[in-house]
Amino acid sequence: MLSDEIVTARQRANLTQEELAARTGLSVRSIRNLESARVTRPRPATVRLLRDVLGLPAHPSPSARLRPMQLPLEIPGFTGRRPQLEQLDRLLDGGPRRMSSVVVGVLSGRPGIGKTALALRWAHRSAARFADGVLHVHLGGSDPKKPAVTPSEALGCLIEALDVPGGVPCGPAARAGLYRSALAGRRMLIMLDDARDADQVRPLLPGVPGCMVVVTSRDRLTGLVVGEAAHPVVVDELAPCEAWQLLQARLGERRLSAEREAARQIVARCAGVPRALAVVAARAAVQPRLPLAELARQLR
Ligand SMILES: Nc1ncnc2c1ncn2[C@@H]1O[C@H](COP(=O)(O)OP(=O)(O)OP(=O)(O)O)[C@@H](O)[C@H]1O
Ligand SMILES: [Mg+2]
Repeated sequence: MLSDEIVTARQRANLTQEELAARTGLSVRSIRNLESARVTRPRPATVRLLRDVLGLPAHPSPSARLRPMQLPLEIPGFTGRRPQLEQLDRLLDGGPRRMSSVVVGVLSGRPGIGKTALALRWAHRSAARFADGVLHVHLGGSDPKKPAVTPSEALGCLIEALDVPGGVPCGPAARAGLYRSALAGRRMLIMLDDARDADQVRPLLPGVPGCMVVVTSRDRLTGLVVGEAAHPVVVDELAPCEAWQLLQARLGERRLSAEREAARQIVARCAGVPRALAVVAARAAVQPRLPLAELARQLR
């Protein structure tokens, strides 16, 4: 393990030497010695601790592999969700279990409540902790116009992104096997957006620890919570002050303070559902002269 590798990974994870020492249980002096290359051959246990906390792969490949970063753009003006973001942080940091099993977080809630926005926000924030990159598949589980993506189709997309020699095999079993082989020893975040049910997700879970999976679904995916010890993360309504912040981020403080009562009515009538707030804000944004009172009236 090279000193440069430690410094780069530590800075990418936004940690000071002291914070890295606290997380690994190593002394600050040891970290300094390693980073300054005063110590060049650390003990294997030290390397394991550092790799784990810094999200470095257990067996780094000698050749530079493609590091996929498939996350779509996160929404600007993201508000609230602190408890859920912290819950996801804890899952990623989470103690000995993290070493021994694949960590799966299931973000569930009603349509438009902000599951995808939250998952993207957290994934962008945490991407640097996944040394081998981030995969993203949209599973189309709630699209009334199209059938949901099959596990085999999703595996095809995932394998393509993993840049496996030989390409995508034909049958679902071969795809599942190749996918799991390709993930073994890699440290990746896999975001599965808009899952229909647990059966759609199960074949997309890695076979060995090292990766983290974040699933969003309108369904609670209880089957995954029971069978695969997935961690439920409930996405519920925004608090009125968060809803106000959402409107403020999109329309500006000036427009809101010019019509405070109407803005309050919009917040109340959207009942903490971000998609409803985003739709109203979009209407107001495209018609800058439209009074907010008129929009509030339309929501009655
Ligand atoms: N925390 C947030 N801050 C600001 N805007 C948000 C937030 N959450 C969601 N939004 C807005 O609400 C819209 C709907 O959110 P999102 O697509 O995440 O809902 P969803 O729960 O994934 O819905 P679906 O069940 O249809 O997949 C987003 O496009 C975004 O504009
Ligand atoms: Mg969604």
